[in-house]
Amino acid sequence: MANIKIPKGWEIPENQVTPESAYINRRKFIKDLGIAGAGALSLFGTSACAQESKVAKQLEPYRMQTLEAKKNKEFTVKREQTDEIVAATYNNFYEFTSSKSTVWKRVERFKTRPWEIEISGLVEKPMTLDVDDLIKQMPLEERIYRFRCVETWAMVVPWIGFPMKALLEKVQPKSEAKYVKMVTFMDPDVAPHQNNFGLPWPYVEGLTLAEAMNDLTLMVVGVYGHILPPQHGAPIRLIAPWKYGFKSIKSIVSIELTDKKPRTFWNVILPREYGFEANVNPNVPHPRWSQATEWMIGSMERHPTVIYNGYGESVAHLY
Ligand code: MTE
Repeated sequence: MANIKIPKGWEIPENQVTPESAYINRRKFIKDLGIAGAGALSLFGTSACAQESKVAKQLEPYRMQTLEAKKNKEFTVKREQTDEIVAATYNNFYEFTSSKSTVWKRVERFKTRPWEIEISGLVEKPMTLDVDDLIKQMPLEERIYRFRCVETWAMVVPWIGFPMKALLEKVQPKSEAKYVKMVTFMDPDVAPHQNNFGLPWPYVEGLTLAEAMNDLTLMVVGVYGHILPPQHGAPIRLIAPWKYGFKSIKSIVSIELTDKKPRTFWNVILPREYGFEANVNPNVPHPRWSQATEWMIGSMERHPTVIYNGYGESVAHLY
């Protein structure tokens, strides 16, 4: 019998994967228009070139700080990788603004070094670490992950980081620890939306300890080969690719192990819309929209949403 691979329920079928010829043609089409990068076309409209060079200038200091990381071949995606400029100009970072296309401009005064991260709570060895010391200590790897926002946009990004498990092993969770609570910086002088007293700042997210210890759960310190630029949550953020993007908290200052489920930012604001678990699931619509399909930023291609964002093999056993 021929070596036929039967896809698991959660795997993305071949026919949903963009054929290479299709995206090569799209690239050519865009190149013919004199615009580099598929997303630039959809995001910037007519002044694409001018806008793109401004973004490149903003990214330059981060692009110069390359990170050495082994490419982990276990984590690749068959879909086309999202253009770096597209990913860097379509962000959610509500501390700065609610306008996704302007986050990259609003983070100008956000200083992400020096930066400390405190790990405390139900652990044997609480510690406070300088982020660059931490980066030196941890075995960095590059993983290409699918990313799915609850708002239905999606992207494919090469993150650089280390498994959260490796960090938790350093502090040694106590047996009573059940949850991991993560908190973002608080500085209303540089992040003006934090002056909005109606919202429960700072941004808080959480995972169960089992989710945090899962091999997929990544502490991210870089992207596209270099350190994180501020709009992606520098200097250190979470990526949990089987969950909606709001779980992937940015610019983390503290990690606390606890026996109580943390009260998370969006869950406090809109509990009916943003649950604690927030696993990607096409069969559970958001109360205001369907989750059956998603669209790729940049190309605008639409695909069916896949349960656990395609990572069921690694995480389905947790639920
Ligand atoms: N973390 C903080 N601190 N503040 C935020 O507003 N937005 C979340 C998540 N992490 C957010 C955050 C949401 S809704 C998404 S979709 C992702 O960050 C977006 O990550 P990206 O901008 O790097 O694509």
